[in-house]
Amino acid sequence: MCGIVAYLGKQKAEPILIKGLKRLEYRGYDSTGIALIENDELQVHKKKGKVAELETELSAQSFKSSIGIGHTRWATHGEPNDVNAHPHYSADQSLAVIHNGIIENYRSLKTELQKKGYSFKSDTDTEVFATFLQDVKTSNDLNLEDAVRLALSRVVGAYAIVILSKEEPDTLIAARKGSPMVIGVGKGEYFVASDATPIVEYTNNVIYLNDEEVAIIKSDSLEITDLKDIPLTPKIHEIDIALDEIEKGGYEHFMLKEIFEQPKSIADCMRGRLKMPEQTLILGGIQKYTDALIQAEKITFIACGTSWHAGLVAEYIFEEFCRIPVEVQYASEYRYRNPIVKPGEIVIAISQSGETADTLAAIEIAQRRGAIVLGIVNAVGSSISRVTDEGAYLHAGPEIGVASTKAFTAQLTVLSMMAIKAALLKGTITDSTFRELLNELNDIPAKVAKALTLNDKIKEISATFKDAHNFLYLGRGYNFPVALEGALKLKEISYIHAEGYPAAEMKHGPIALIDENMPVVFIATRDSSYDKIISNIQEVKSRKGKVIAVVTEGDVLIPGMADYTIEVPATHEALMPLVSVVPLQLLSYHIAVMRGANVDQPRNLAKSVTVE
Ligand code: M6R
Repeated sequence: MCGIVAYLGKQKAEPILIKGLKRLEYRGYDSTGIALIENDELQVHKKKGKVAELETELSAQSFKSSIGIGHTRWATHGEPNDVNAHPHYSADQSLAVIHNGIIENYRSLKTELQKKGYSFKSDTDTEVFATFLQDVKTSNDLNLEDAVRLALSRVVGAYAIVILSKEEPDTLIAARKGSPMVIGVGKGEYFVASDATPIVEYTNNVIYLNDEEVAIIKSDSLEITDLKDIPLTPKIHEIDIALDEIEKGGYEHFMLKEIFEQPKSIADCMRGRLKMPEQTLILGGIQKYTDALIQAEKITFIACGTSWHAGLVAEYIFEEFCRIPVEVQYASEYRYRNPIVKPGEIVIAISQSGETADTLAAIEIAQRRGAIVLGIVNAVGSSISRVTDEGAYLHAGPEIGVASTKAFTAQLTVLSMMAIKAALLKGTITDSTFRELLNELNDIPAKVAKALTLNDKIKEISATFKDAHNFLYLGRGYNFPVALEGALKLKEISYIHAEGYPAAEMKHGPIALIDENMPVVFIATRDSSYDKIISNIQEVKSRKGKVIAVVTEGDVLIPGMADYTIEVPATHEALMPLVSVVPLQLLSYHIAVMRGANVDQPRNLAKSVTVE
């Protein structure tokens, strides 16, 4: 949730930290701060608001420090304000700490420290940890790294933490448990960050810190140990992220850039997997468990938010083509519901970030009970990609906009490829259906590109509805999860209340909401439920609802009934969500922009939900 960045090297740390924080701001953006060593003093500068505001405030000063830590916050303990912003000093101001995660036993640690006479300025668990660390260090007469290991062994909860000490001004200590942390290894310099985005312009060599590992970083050495001080040999990975992938590239917002990137991201996702001349489909990442997949008595998808919607589409696809019963579970519920898992059962975790705490916890439970867990993940090297038994990356490139767009279509692409391949191997589809689906998949990037040409029209429709207070999204079959996704996109970035429903469910309740002020978005492309959804459109029109319909190109019936129609190219109905979701992404984007909302950083949200 929060963004962490730290630097130790020969360059000035402050501009590197500020730039890094800007790159990480999508992870949390309610307050920000940095700590530096200036003239042998540990200085903390922090404030409520965006990184740019801190940057302006610091611009009058010049800093020499070549070591420093920085943080951009998504509040968990205490409201977003200057005092609760990170870094936090220890009581004696000898240490500064930045932290992502939640220290669950902070209340008992705080009481213990208060009994010893310590007091606290903020409401945060992090300040408690900083002072706890100081106390552990001084009471046991330890050096910093031993003190960190001892203190962390008493911490319950999740953390990615970096510590800067006035007494050891050439050392950074970083540690993680349950929250992501990457170390960039440059020439004579080191970077620490929540993900690789602040690092890639300096080095491609990174180390992914594992849970309960502690990194002791000095200008000329990097040592990694576990909490018991056993030395570990870190593995250096080479990452492949181009700088333009994490920049806006002329677009007004990352979200718009990512919506428009979809023809490419879907093609990237299929590259090397879907081979048209040979008419083959190869998903290298899940080869070991292919037999288990096709013999599965049940598949369970676990995910949150948009990724959960991708799981719902997959439910339809796997059931239709593979004839395997599918369950789709919110990871946050699965982890607490005592799930029935047969040994060898297939569980598929879907996650853009690969760091969602609920999904990670659900994976752990499934694995503990004997399931084979496959991961469908975008972020390379992320925790979910590392803890799952096998998996397939999306290869959609970094997604920075908080509202997920290109990751969703890439998830659908991977899941469709998996289902189609499994169905062929299982014999539940014929060779000719397989080839037909392959051809359709191959055409999807072009069809998405065509759907994107509707941008201007969708912008006009958006202007009509930008002041609406509510929206209803209705779809059937494969387009039902698309309705849910359209509604989620709208509410998270425009703050308009929106609900998605299976269209036939409308008459069981939501129809009471329909009047002349209610925009209803129908995803009514030509498929097996087309005739049925037409009846649903009529039900809305006869109650004076305003209908915006996403239809298949050439539809002659619905344009005569709907107030606005958006025509998308035809494809196989199982693949239609890849195309029909695009106008809904654009609709939410334009409405949000017209309402003056911060599209890339919507209020209260963060890109990667690494806390429960
Ligand atoms: O990184 P994940 O895919 O695991 O994230 C899951 C949800 O937090 C995420 O999809 C969220 O709902 C997005 N803000 C949706 O746009």
